[in-house]
Amino acid sequence: MKIYQAPMEGVIDHHVRELLSAIGGIDVCVTEFVRVTHTKLPRKVFTRFCPELEQGAATPSGTPVKLQLLGGNPESMACNAARAVEAGARAIDLNFGCPAKSVNNSDGGACLLQSPSRVEGIVAAVRKAVPVDVPVSAKIRLGYEDRRSYLDNARAAEAGGASELAVHARSKVDGYRPPAYWEYIGEIRQHIDIPVIANGDLWTVQDFLRCRDVTGCNAFMFGRSLLARPDIGLQIRAYCSNQPYEPMSWSKIVALLYRYYETTRSDYPGKYLGNRIKQWLAYLKLSYPQAAHFFEEIKRLREPELLEQAFARQLGNSPREIEAA
Ligand SMILES: Cc1cc2nc3c(=O)[nH]c(=O)nc-3n(C[C@H](O)[C@H](O)[C@H](O)COP(=O)(O)O)c2cc1C
Repeated sequence: MKIYQAPMEGVIDHHVRELLSAIGGIDVCVTEFVRVTHTKLPRKVFTRFCPELEQGAATPSGTPVKLQLLGGNPESMACNAARAVEAGARAIDLNFGCPAKSVNNSDGGACLLQSPSRVEGIVAAVRKAVPVDVPVSAKIRLGYEDRRSYLDNARAAEAGGASELAVHARSKVDGYRPPAYWEYIGEIRQHIDIPVIANGDLWTVQDFLRCRDVTGCNAFMFGRSLLARPDIGLQIRAYCSNQPYEPMSWSKIVALLYRYYETTRSDYPGKYLGNRIKQWLAYLKLSYPQAAHFFEEIKRLREPELLEQAFARQLGNSPREIEAA
């Protein structure tokens, strides 16, 4: 079984990938999407989204990272995929799922699902442009306005030469509203030969078990749930191997957040200080009731001393001790 971290623009950056992959249980990470228009992107754009390119395209704990590209022009996507490989990418993922208006209006993401032939053309162009040992994968939703095109788009990705296909089990119009329609993923899996990665609303071990039953998949991708339960991969692996496992305690979570705060502090100074922590807490609230209290406590804080004191109060000790927890 393989476990993937789902790409999340503006949320899962290289700092978060480092922290999540160090916890364990994740086989593959994926970057936020790099938007491709008509220009040739300089190397520094790829390394900004994916500093891991300078370290063998793996996180410090050794988890491989795929670089995700988003765009609607096959030539430009191909050219930039080749440049990404020159910059160190060892696997390319193509985004056909982003629902954002700004992205869809500029011919990228989920809007491409309206023309499966375009999906095939983009995958094929990228496949041709990069060395054979660099896998090119695709990530789709079930459709754009509705879910009717799911098989056509899955077949198109396979025909274009995708090595594997991640399927977020919703249409663009479904947004992020529950439920995720896992049964479509099961059908896709029966109609194509490349591995299919099931994605969407895998919040708990129980969700994973139901999704595995419904889809028959052997690969699963976790996005928001990985932020809500950073050790979901370990929980699942322990369950599958019949091993006892104690989910991460709140104090371990606070230590994780503190590490994130420390490493990103210089990237988000002034009025943005602590914003990323607050964003993460919004996901953690879904599984740790303490996260809601902590969020309330820090939501208006901007000063480093006050934030540090708040962290310390969570554990009743000093920030240095938090780090060691
Ligand atoms: C804030 C946010 C940002 C996202 N950014 C991306 C992205 O850059 N590329 C992509 O393919 N999907 C992106 N997604 C979709 C996720 O990868 C995933 O398909 C979706 O959240 C469903 O999985 P989940 O229920 O495990 O979160 C994003 C989702 C969210 C909520």
